[in-house]
Amino acid sequence: MILENFKRESLIPLPVSFISTVSEDGVRNIAPYSCVMPILRPFDLVCVASAKMRDTFVNIKSTEEFVINMPGANMADKVMPTAMHVPFDVNEFELADLKEKPSTKVQAPGIDGCYAWMECKLHSMHEEEYNGVPYLLIMGKVVHLEIDDDVYNPEDGSWDLEKAKPLMMTESDRGMHFCTVKSIDKFEPYGAMFEDGKDPLSWMYEKKEVPDTGK
Ligand SMILES: Cc1cc2nc3c(=O)[nH]c(=O)nc-3n(C[C@H](O)[C@H](O)[C@H](O)COP(=O)(O)O)c2cc1C
Repeated sequence: MILENFKRESLIPLPVSFISTVSEDGVRNIAPYSCVMPILRPFDLVCVASAKMRDTFVNIKSTEEFVINMPGANMADKVMPTAMHVPFDVNEFELADLKEKPSTKVQAPGIDGCYAWMECKLHSMHEEEYNGVPYLLIMGKVVHLEIDDDVYNPEDGSWDLEKAKPLMMTESDRGMHFCTVKSIDKFEPYGAMFEDGKDPLSWMYEKKEVPDTGK
């Protein structure tokens, strides 16, 4: 089956994240974002593609901070309440009946009940236009990264997909098709990509604890 070119996002399973921000006046905001990706390994950068008409964008522009919260499938019913277009002064934690998880390095609170949290400071913002439609590529620098102890295995840095059940989606003509991922129990060391079998970045990944540099 040949599909229309613009349906490319239908064929890439996407994560569903919740981006939490605060306005200059302290109003809490949450929005689901799926166009979120890490920039290479081992940078601490993430890129978020955003439409311009987003309170999330307004808040990131003014406060230069945001939190990317990773929910499990058990939070699927929080997606639509947080995706609704509501006035700027509505606290979306209250609207969606979500509890705040205080952040460590940014003012914006995280969301309690998610399985991982990326506290980010704005690194750069690229205002673009495609076919006359404005959009943004927002680059965030992760300044604090946390995962629920219940799903993380500190022995090998893996995490329990069965327990976390990361909320994902594919797209269809019926709209968003929510799903999760399943382990196929296959691991490969990064070193396998190199002739000498050694991963030049292994020294970074072998560290068990990240020193808190206060940055
Ligand atoms: C599952 C899901 C994923 C979404 N991903 C994005 C995205 O990556 N970029 C974007 O600009 N909007 C995305 N949206 C739309 C915004 O979440 C929605 O417009 C929301 O109302 C924006 O809220 P805000 O104005 O409070 O920022 C997504 C919506 C859903 C339901």
